[in-house]
Amino acid sequence: MRRIIHDCDPGHDDAVALLLALASPEVELLGVTTVAGNQTVEKTTANAIRVLDCVQREDVAVAGGATRPLVRERHVAAHVHGETGLDGSGLPSPSRAPAPVHAIDWIARTLASQPDPVTLVATGPLTNVALLLARYPEVEGQLEQIVLMGGAIGEGNITPAAEFNLWADPEAAHRVFTSTVKVTMVGLDVTHRALLTPERVEQLAASSGAGRLVANMYAFYAEVYRRRYGWSGAPVHDALAMAHVIDGNLLETQHRGVVIDTGPEPSRGRTYVDRWGISEWTPNAHVAVGVDAERFLTLLVERIGRLP
Ligand code: RIB
Ligand code: CA
Repeated sequence: MRRIIHDCDPGHDDAVALLLALASPEVELLGVTTVAGNQTVEKTTANAIRVLDCVQREDVAVAGGATRPLVRERHVAAHVHGETGLDGSGLPSPSRAPAPVHAIDWIARTLASQPDPVTLVATGPLTNVALLLARYPEVEGQLEQIVLMGGAIGEGNITPAAEFNLWADPEAAHRVFTSTVKVTMVGLDVTHRALLTPERVEQLAASSGAGRLVANMYAFYAEVYRRRYGWSGAPVHDALAMAHVIDGNLLETQHRGVVIDTGPEPSRGRTYVDRWGISEWTPNAHVAVGVDAERFLTLLVERIGRLP
């Protein structure tokens, strides 16, 4: 049993990642923290609570975090996730307010109370994680690892050069990738090779209430990928990062040097991954280079089907 904290910006795929964690006995979800990214932190926080409400998990703490990146202006991804951040979900308003404490304070207190190191799964911009490391340096010894969805060895998705999470707050990403904490980078190179298909969505819709929620969200979210890429499926980026914590056999990773571009466009937020050892960069991240897509999708459908 691995204890985890999920820092996220729900966001359709964040929501699927959260549901996957709740359905998987391999992990104990200690709580959820939210950050500005796909939408404002007010909306991402409300969305996290809405998803937890849908599966009757009012017991799971939710604490809101950073309202904007460390340095850059905030840019939400309404073009992908809609004005609510969860367009198409059909979920009612949240049943409760978030915890009356900032996300990084909640994480620090939680880590301090745990007997063993905790895994932090970060599926949004890394603003909260960078602030946490800056305000509470002791957490570097209390984190087993940071598994993050973000970056790309190859092409980006918010610009040709960069993936959204790391583009949104490149300074925060730099702070995380230069920390002493073990980092696993689950980037577009693998998430774009594990598309949730209409056939799998039909299975989900027939499986559980949570499955129907995923199917409802998918209908909105997949259209974005059909229009842009012509795909008949959609990547559930964040759920793949979460699945890596649950089943370590899904991804092939390589320990490589990764540098974050904190400059201006057109390369802002790019992850330069020294995949073939061309440079002398010290390896600082376990970069996902391969994925067993069928194994991942089978796990996702089976686990979501276990929920109410
Ligand atoms: O680039 C994909 C990432 O950006 C995912 O985490 C998605 O939720 C968005 O935040
Ligand atoms: Ca996300």
